[in-house]
Amino acid sequence: MIDFKKEIDKKVFHIVGDTANELRRECYAVGGCVRDMVLRRPSKDIDFVTVGSGIELAEAVAGKLGKGAHLSVFRTFGTAQVKKHNLELEFVGARKESYNRESRNPVVEEGSLTDDLSRRDFTINALALQVNTGENFGRLIDMFDGMGDIERQIIRTPLDPDITFSDDPLRMLRAIRFATQLGFKIHPETFDALTRNAGRIEIITRERIATELMKIMESPRPSIGWDLLYKSGLLKLILPELAAMKGVEVVNGRAHKDNFYHTLEVLDKLSRMTDKVWLRWAALLHDIAKPVTKKWDDKAGWTFHNHNFVGSKMVPRIFRNLKLPLDNKMKYVAKLVELHMRPIALVEDEVTDSAVRRLVNDAGEDLEDLLLLCEADVTSKNEEKVRRIMANLAIVKQKIEEVNERDNIRNFNPPVDGIEIMRTFGIGGGPLVGEIKQRIKDAILDGEIHNDYDEAREMMLRLGKEHGLTPVTDA
Ligand code: CTP
Repeated sequence: MIDFKKEIDKKVFHIVGDTANELRRECYAVGGCVRDMVLRRPSKDIDFVTVGSGIELAEAVAGKLGKGAHLSVFRTFGTAQVKKHNLELEFVGARKESYNRESRNPVVEEGSLTDDLSRRDFTINALALQVNTGENFGRLIDMFDGMGDIERQIIRTPLDPDITFSDDPLRMLRAIRFATQLGFKIHPETFDALTRNAGRIEIITRERIATELMKIMESPRPSIGWDLLYKSGLLKLILPELAAMKGVEVVNGRAHKDNFYHTLEVLDKLSRMTDKVWLRWAALLHDIAKPVTKKWDDKAGWTFHNHNFVGSKMVPRIFRNLKLPLDNKMKYVAKLVELHMRPIALVEDEVTDSAVRRLVNDAGEDLEDLLLLCEADVTSKNEEKVRRIMANLAIVKQKIEEVNERDNIRNFNPPVDGIEIMRTFGIGGGPLVGEIKQRIKDAILDGEIHNDYDEAREMMLRLGKEHGLTPVTDA
């Protein structure tokens, strides 16, 4: 049993508790920080609820904390924040909230602690610890058996879930996010309501949805969240392209695999290997174009031709819709989606030097990430097949090392650049310069010449001659 008194025996709680006593107010630490104390998770900020004005209490606490304390007041929301060094304290007056159904803006009315706790999202987040110094310091208020739900690992709403979710539909995503982060189950009644209310997610901004999705992706097993999103009906509203991957079609008795569950397996396997969240996104989206490229062929069976290319072209739109960053992170994901078949294709064909050089060149600094994604993509249940693919992948890795060391191909630019071509032949920029440069690059990648200045220059002179060009200078 956790000793809360000991847990909060820290200077900050004593200061807040003393200040509340001086103002003759009840004050409680609430929400995530209490939950995280019980779960032994780090917590970033501390939320306090007081019966009365949170702003007044915050002002007094900021005064007590003295130099270096910074107070921000948000009058419209009736909240205030005090920051000092890496401490972040949030203060709010207990409230009875009724929400405007068409938006998330609460109509705030003062209330009791009971009102306040019952309007919170989940029982595990509705725990309160009294901080008033004296005999009540560290007293736990647990009106909805939040401690029992932590013990049983259950996400459940304190009130009728239809009310809790219609108060703030983002909570449906929060339920799934907590279930994913903590590995908890969502209580069946809560989950039924979540399914019933899924359509209400439309009033939530996409930025807030993205924040929850990122937290799901950063969890140890992100598949838990995506599976729950699918089962609740939220996925087809948030990321329909992924929902479209669910299911199996059968023609002439031949079925393709369920691409949704394959993807989730890849995602979890990759997540065991790396914390890199954008690489995880690449795993989630690597087969995203399979539904749109799927065809039945009487000879070949199910095919998904070019799904890697089509998929990489879908990434920008998906990122835009989800309000994910449209910078290098998006380009990185698109690139990995495009290249995700290349190492395996290499394995299945012949591992030639030139194919390896091209892969190294195209993947550039993301080569290791691409190889991890490829490894995660091997989800076959056929042990023999897995062993064979993994052994071949090891050969590819070995070959990459060799070619890299020998030819220094990674992030390479041809030793002869466009400026040198123009200067040598006294010509201006144009398609011919690009063509000569590309042919030199191809020759290096194909192993016809070495990645070496003299050989490249010789080839440039030869190619110029083929086009009727003569060098204006030998420099
Ligand atoms: N809360 C709520 N409904 C929401 C958001 C928050 O009832 N839509 C309540 C919960 O009691 C929650 C507290 O406000 O514990 C603080 O919210 P927040 O800081 O967003 O989340 P935490 O629970 O602290 O968790 P995390 O920091 O992981 O987001």
